[in-house]
Amino acid sequence: MERLEGKVALVTGAGRGIGRGIALRLGQDGALVAVHYGNNKTTADEVVEQIKANGGQAFAVQADLRNIAGVHQLVETFTAKLESQTGSSHFDILVNNAGIGTAQKLEETTEQEFDQLFAVNVKAPFFLVQQLLSNLRDGGRIVNVSSGVTRIAMPDIISYNMTKGALNIFNLNLAQLLGPRNITVNAVLPGIIDTDVNAAWLHTPEGQAMAKNMSTLGRVGETADVADIVSFLASDDARWITGDTIDATGGSHL
Ligand SMILES: NC(=O)c1ccc[n+]([C@@H]2O[C@H](COP(=O)([O-])OP(=O)(O)OC[C@H]3O[C@@H](n4cnc5c(N)ncnc54)[C@H](OP(=O)(O)O)[C@@H]3O)[C@@H](O)[C@H]2O)c1
Repeated sequence: MERLEGKVALVTGAGRGIGRGIALRLGQDGALVAVHYGNNKTTADEVVEQIKANGGQAFAVQADLRNIAGVHQLVETFTAKLESQTGSSHFDILVNNAGIGTAQKLEETTEQEFDQLFAVNVKAPFFLVQQLLSNLRDGGRIVNVSSGVTRIAMPDIISYNMTKGALNIFNLNLAQLLGPRNITVNAVLPGIIDTDVNAAWLHTPEGQAMAKNMSTLGRVGETADVADIVSFLASDDARWITGDTIDATGGSHL
C-alpha cells in the first residue's frame, strides 16, 4: 500500500514547476490529487494525465489567485468536483505552492507589483486556508512552499522575499492554531530550482555555474528535490513535525 493511499490532496500551481513535481509525487504516493492552475490548462491537464497513466487519480481545477474572487472560485470548484468524485467534500492535504517571483530592486518596485506579489503569495494562501478549514480533515496536513530567501539576504528581490517571510509567520501561527485538531503545518524553503521562473537566466553557462556554486552539494535543484520533502511532510512519518520551516536549498550559503 502506498503511503498516501486513501488521502486527498489539493496542490496549488500544480501545472508547472515545483507544484507539478509535488502533484506527480503525491499521485505516485496514492493520493487523489486536485491539480490547481491559474492560466495554463494544457500543462495542468498533462499532469492529470500523467498521474492517471501511472495508475493514480487526479483532476484539474482552475482559478486565478490574484484576487479573493479567485480563492472563492477555487474553493467552490474544488469541493464540488471532489464531492462528485468521492461523495465527500473533505480532504487531507493542502499544499500552498502557487506563487509569483517577478520582484524588482527596491528603487524599481511599483505599488502594483508589490500588491500583486502579496496577493498571490500571501493573501491567497491565507484565505484559501480560512475557506477550506472546515473541509480539511482532523489529522490533515498543510505544507506551505516558502523560500530559502527567508534565510539568505537577496535584496535584489526584496519584495518577493518579504512575501515568503510573511508566509513563514503564517505557517508558525497556523501550526499553533491547528495543533488541537492534529493538523500539522510546515513550510519548505527551496533554493534555486530549475523551473520556468528561473529559465531565462538559469539556462545560460554563467547562470548554471552561479546556481551550482551556491549549493554546497554542487548542483542545481530539481523539482523532485522539493517534492520528495513535501511527500514526507504529508505522510504519517512526519506526524511529530509541525510549525517548522524545512530548508530545501541543498545547503546554499551555509
Ligand atoms: N523556482 C525556484 O527557484 C523557487 C525557489 C524558492 C521558492 N519557490 C516557490 O515555489 C513555488 C512554485 O514556484 P515555481 O518556480 O514552480 O514557479 P512556476 O514554474 O512559475 O509555476 C508557478 C505556478 O503557480 C501558478 N500561478 C502563478 N500565478 C498564479 C495566479 N495568479 N493564480 C493562480 N495560479 C498562479 C502557475 O499557474 P499556471 O501554470 O496556470 O500559470 C504555476 O502553476 C512558488 O511559491 C515560488 O515562490 C520557487
